[in-house]
Amino acid sequence: MGLQENFLWGGASAANQCEGGIFEDGRGLANVDVCPAGKDRGDVISGRRKMLSMDQEHTYPAAVAVDFYHHFREDIRLLGELGCRVYRMSIAWTRIFPQGDEEEPNEAGLEFYKEVFRECQKRNIRPLVTISHFDCPIGLIEKYGGWRNRKMIGFYLKLCKTLFTRYKEYVSDWLNFNEINMILHAPFMGAGICFEPGEDEEAVKYQAAHHELVAGALAVKMAHEINPKNRVGCMFAAGSAYPRTCSPEDVWEALLTDQENYFFVDVQARGYYPAYAVKRLKKRGIWPKMDPEDEAVLKSYTVDFISFSYYNSRCIAAPGSGSEEAEGNLFKSAKNPYLTFSEWGWPIDPLGLRITLNQVYDRYQKPLFIVENGLGAVDTPDENGEIHDSYRIEYLREHIRAMKAAVEEDGVELIGYTSWAPIDLISAGSGEMKKRYGFVYVDKQEDGSGTLARTKKQSFSWYQKVIESNGEDLG
Ligand code: BG6
Repeated sequence: MGLQENFLWGGASAANQCEGGIFEDGRGLANVDVCPAGKDRGDVISGRRKMLSMDQEHTYPAAVAVDFYHHFREDIRLLGELGCRVYRMSIAWTRIFPQGDEEEPNEAGLEFYKEVFRECQKRNIRPLVTISHFDCPIGLIEKYGGWRNRKMIGFYLKLCKTLFTRYKEYVSDWLNFNEINMILHAPFMGAGICFEPGEDEEAVKYQAAHHELVAGALAVKMAHEINPKNRVGCMFAAGSAYPRTCSPEDVWEALLTDQENYFFVDVQARGYYPAYAVKRLKKRGIWPKMDPEDEAVLKSYTVDFISFSYYNSRCIAAPGSGSEEAEGNLFKSAKNPYLTFSEWGWPIDPLGLRITLNQVYDRYQKPLFIVENGLGAVDTPDENGEIHDSYRIEYLREHIRAMKAAVEEDGVELIGYTSWAPIDLISAGSGEMKKRYGFVYVDKQEDGSGTLARTKKQSFSWYQKVIESNGEDLG
């Protein structure tokens, strides 16, 4: 019993939340660079306020982030010290194709990631690379409107081809899009979409989703052709929807919420639009425009595994039931009276991870990979500069316990677990620095000050032991 010996323990991050260096070595501007911190962020990431450049009024946390661009050797050394067997990271598209539609890639950008992969190799860390983690060149948004335009498939595949060929000797595990279902909730951040006044937003989102689904399938095809060892997974923001009560109306609403989420994985893992989506999109008059070959492409190139982020479950009440709301990973839902909540109001539900693992595995019967799970919290160094983050240890311990139960007692096939995020970085949802997830504290403060020095938190040695014991010693 226990987890398989080669279980992939590690940590996960995203380029725009840790790298900084957005004007260095020929890198172009991306959607995620122009998402400001503060009150306007919500309107920008949801595509309701068009912001395609930086202004003087706002601050832009991705510009420096935690400066992984200049600290990557130190950071990867720390990951090695933690014992990470895998590092999930993403590529900043605009380091490779600054505008998105160039003929030739930017060699300096390619060189940077080669160095990152070499560093991983030195420490026996296997990279798991997200090709697009909330990342779209501004050039492609200005000229083509982002993923609403079918031409994006070609630009994305060009990026894929460059990555699959250039990094053939370093990388064989890939994710095509981070949290693909976020296109419905944060369409500018997820797919570079800004809405025009009066247009049918749902129609635009599902058309863009279709383009990403086709692009993702063609990426699977290409990855396998270039290197038969390549494995490509999809990635979605998971967290089962619980009905607020056993009233059939609440149960029905919860089922609709799950279907909205699973829609993407249904297509990527099974290879076709599920019946409920066909009916509803057609009835609503927003069935996406498709090319004749799309159906065959989706059918032929399904993903090798399914990965997801899990932060919380959702609690769903029928419309008009007047129940209190709770926050969550870019989704709001009803407040679950049986759970406690993080400082950001996200529900804490370890058993929910076991429930989610079971539901996803029952539905798809493909290997699963938890590629994000963690607690965003304010960490305050004590007078000696030490951070005692027992709350984080507690959160992770209970989630890992639930994960192990799903594998050992329920038979779920699980490849690995990468916690979000081993080294503090910028929050995607709020743009805040003070919402920290790491085992390593970065001295970077909300106002941009700080030395960027890295300090291990109490949770560092705890996670080290977890990995060393392959999940047997949870402290
Ligand atoms: C996921 C994203 O939505 O959740 C990450 O893939 C993100 O990019 C993480 O950072 C946690 O959310 P937040 O808003 O606390 O950063």
